[in-house]
Amino acid sequence: MNNKILVLGSTGKTGRRVAEKLQQLHLQLRLGSRNADLSFNWDEPGNWHQVLNGIEKVYIAFQPDLAVPQAVEKIILFTQTALQNKVKKLVLLSGRGEKEAEECEQVVISSGMDWTIIRASWFMQNFSEGFFLDSILSNEMMLPVINAKEPFIDVDDIADVVVASLTEEGHSQKIYELTGPELLSFKTATAIIAGKLGRPIEFNETTMEEYVALLQSFQVPADFIWLIRYLFTELLDGRNESLTNDIERVLDRKPITFDEYVTKTIKTGVWKTQLV
Ligand SMILES: NC(=O)c1ccc[n+]([C@@H]2O[C@H](COP(=O)([O-])OP(=O)(O)OC[C@H]3O[C@@H](n4cnc5c(N)ncnc54)[C@H](OP(=O)(O)O)[C@@H]3O)[C@@H](O)[C@H]2O)c1
Repeated sequence: MNNKILVLGSTGKTGRRVAEKLQQLHLQLRLGSRNADLSFNWDEPGNWHQVLNGIEKVYIAFQPDLAVPQAVEKIILFTQTALQNKVKKLVLLSGRGEKEAEECEQVVISSGMDWTIIRASWFMQNFSEGFFLDSILSNEMMLPVINAKEPFIDVDDIADVVVASLTEEGHSQKIYELTGPELLSFKTATAIIAGKLGRPIEFNETTMEEYVALLQSFQVPADFIWLIRYLFTELLDGRNESLTNDIERVLDRKPITFDEYVTKTIKTGVWKTQLV
């Protein structure tokens, strides 16, 4: 009988929270990542039938990003395998304003299964669980010049929308665009963290070419540099400089503010350095 929910990216920023919230609801889960008991790897489709066997619904957090050129063929194969295993519903995490990701969204939309698409803004948790954590810890944020402001979103809000989409009526065939409650520049976001931590965090901007050279000097893989360039140039050209009320529509409450995110994150100790 198919009654389990498969959570992909189950140890990641969104998947870990989605899995915890579903466990609190006493729902049957299968965790999906390369290190899960039954390993799931986007690069190794050999056991996908096994991973999808007995699954009713899937939360898809793709790696590394739906905009990368290889994503579409992997999503096509995944949805075909899911359909063959009688999966009924897919909830796909996508990026807001990522035109390239929309091809993957279309694959899910026309898969023959029920679906919900969740297009998220930049995660606040990039500063504490992702790419910018090292910069906060070293008290020095270096970024390419970004003129646009971003409506950063807390991944706890995303996880709540994912869980609602997986467990409640009314989210079928919906595309949600999730934003936080305010537009912030990266500089202001960094200053809010520094202010609440009570220590200075230097903020420096450089050209994209110099930034890429810096990443290369740290041996960052070429694929990842491609993605960083895409995210920092195409996505931050001002197209996402607006707020939506989809969090309120789905959750009937306001989205978490950046200030609230910083306050709760300080309590975890993740930003503590030897110097503090
Ligand atoms: N960061 C943002 O601001 C942002 C904004 C909008 C959308 N997104 C989208 O969010 C998605 C990432 O979700 P996330 O941030 O929740 O995850 P994440 O924190 O990046 O964590 C990655 C998760 O995927 C697993 N994973 C890594 N490589 C894998 C592979 N080859 N095959 C299978 N699983 C793999 C990891 O576990 P193992 O190591 O055990 O495999 C881990 O559970 C991406 O599609 C991204 O485009 C991100």
